[in-house]
Amino acid sequence: KKILILNGPNLNLLGVREKGIYGNQSFETYFETLKERFADNADLSYFQSNTEGFIIDKLHDVGFSYDGIVLNAGAYTHTSVAIADAIAAINTPVVEVHISNVHQREAFRHHSYLSKNCKGVILGFGLDSYRLGIESLI
Ligand code: DQA
Repeated sequence: KKILILNGPNLNLLGVREKGIYGNQSFETYFETLKERFADNADLSYFQSNTEGFIIDKLHDVGFSYDGIVLNAGAYTHTSVAIADAIAAINTPVVEVHISNVHQREAFRHHSYLSKNCKGVILGFGLDSYRLGIESLI
C-alpha cells in the first residue's frame, strides 16, 4: 500500500516548537521508526509544506494513485476551505490527524473544515496519532 504522510505549516519545527504540546522528537526521526514498523505492509512517503497551495498540489499529485493519505494540515485545518475542497476532489482516502487533542485547546481549534471530507479523524495521541492513521488505512 502506498501511503503519504502530509504535514502542513509549522510541523517542520516538531521537536523544537512548543514541546509541552508537541513533544521533543523531530518528524524526520519519527518517520524513520514508522518506516521500520510498516516495512512489510506499507510504502510510506513524507511531504511537508508551510504553504497552502503546495499542500493542495501534493493532494492532487498523489490523490488519484496512492492508497491513502495521512494529513495533519496544522492550523489550515481550522481555516482552509481550499484544502477541504481538494480532499473532496481526489479519490484517495484521507485520514485527518492531530498530535494534540484540539478539543482541550482554544475554541478556534475545535472546528475543522477538513473532517467532513475525510475518511476519519485521529487526534490527541501525540506522534502516535500518525501510526494509528496508517493502521486505519491498512
Ligand atoms: C495540530 C493542531 C492545530 O490546531 C495546530 O495549528 C497545529 C498542530 C496538531 O497536530 O495538534 O499546528 O494540527
